[in-house]
Amino acid sequence: MNLHESEKIGGILSARGYVATENEENADVIVFNTCCIRENAEDRAEGNIGALKKLKAKNRDLIIAVGGCMTQQKDFAEKLHKTFPFVDIIFGTHNLENFGTLFDRKLSQKKSVIEVLPKEETIVEGTPKFRTSYPNAWVNITYGCNNFCTYCIVPYVRGRERSRKLEDIVSECKELIAEGYKEITLLGQNVNSYGNDLENVDFATLITEISKIEGKFRLRFMTNHPKDLTEKLVKAIAESDKTCRSVHLPVQAGANRILKLMNRKYTREDYFQKVEILRKYIPDVAITTDIMVGFPTETEEDFLDTVDLVKRVGFSGAFTFIYSKRKGTPAEKMDGQIDEQISKDRIMRLIDLQNNTNREQSKEYLNKTVEILCEDFDEKKKMYLGRDTYGRMAYFKSDKNLIGEFVNVKITKTGGISLLGEIV
Ligand code: 5AD
Ligand code: SF4
Repeated sequence: MNLHESEKIGGILSARGYVATENEENADVIVFNTCCIRENAEDRAEGNIGALKKLKAKNRDLIIAVGGCMTQQKDFAEKLHKTFPFVDIIFGTHNLENFGTLFDRKLSQKKSVIEVLPKEETIVEGTPKFRTSYPNAWVNITYGCNNFCTYCIVPYVRGRERSRKLEDIVSECKELIAEGYKEITLLGQNVNSYGNDLENVDFATLITEISKIEGKFRLRFMTNHPKDLTEKLVKAIAESDKTCRSVHLPVQAGANRILKLMNRKYTREDYFQKVEILRKYIPDVAITTDIMVGFPTETEEDFLDTVDLVKRVGFSGAFTFIYSKRKGTPAEKMDGQIDEQISKDRIMRLIDLQNNTNREQSKEYLNKTVEILCEDFDEKKKMYLGRDTYGRMAYFKSDKNLIGEFVNVKITKTGGISLLGEIV
């Protein structure tokens, strides 16, 4: 999500004649697109902004801008301006698409431009994009979130859920395929509720419509909410020859008591049922997840419920997080905040468990041939890499640049999560 927003900021600057540079010493403009979902992301952003003070002192013409969801938090922009007065532009998530106007205003005045809108705007179409992830292209389908999970800051900094029109999404996808992109990843805080604010469309319809676009490409989407994953949608995924056989279904926790406190609106039993539906229609589906440990009041027993759920589902991958207290969320006020050491111990046990599962799953790949979309070249390994339909990463050698091509790779070695193979 943030990455694609950076592509939009890049697009707005490209349209003004700026080109990208790897070296900040050479830069005329530096934009921070921040995230505040967890405290460490926020700390890192502040550290990086602070580190630019010297550069700004050396180069007075350098324009430094800070946007994203960190600045969108209540009273944050003023605080940021006081701490880092050398920052030229401060904007939020709600006016990201208007960054160009703020930038132009800054060019014509000495004073800093600070504009963070209190409320989300209607969707703006047609923002230029400086895409950086060929052969994949990110496509927003919804903005904002209505779920209000009690730990999460997203609904406060990104506003209510808004869906882009189906025609706009499909025509963007058509253009991208015509331009040569080989993979489209649809983005939304909860893509499953796409269309709730529109008439006669839902996410299943969108998948079906995008799948009709001619040409060979892959369709992915993230992220999903278990409560909104319907049988109709799973059927649409199963019937689409473009949609990858992998679904990211964040579970967050395995204990019903914690799920309730999190306001996730499903139980562990409901979650198992969703997994069953997925496997009924897409027997080989790879399910990945997000899991949080150390949510307020989480006991060892609750954590063991999470461990049990992870074992039972057999995830193909899991992003694990230690609960991070976010200002203004209901969980911030909850009694029973968990000691960091306990959370660290729990997350390590969870990571070990998932690593073992990944190693076991990788073994099944040995000597098999898989279709990989070549995505990148690893300079250190001197190998190309890409993923199969299940999202599993494979590395392989080639003398020819294969980025953007589908290749058949025979897996010759399996270690941890990624695979090693040769083109056949
Ligand atoms: N603390 C830790 N992890 C969080 N996430 C969201 N909010 C928090 C928080 N306050 C995690 C969730 C979500 C993922 C994108 O980030 O697991 O699915
Ligand atoms: Fe946050 Fe929950 Fe919305 Fe995801 S669904 S963005 S975790 S509030």
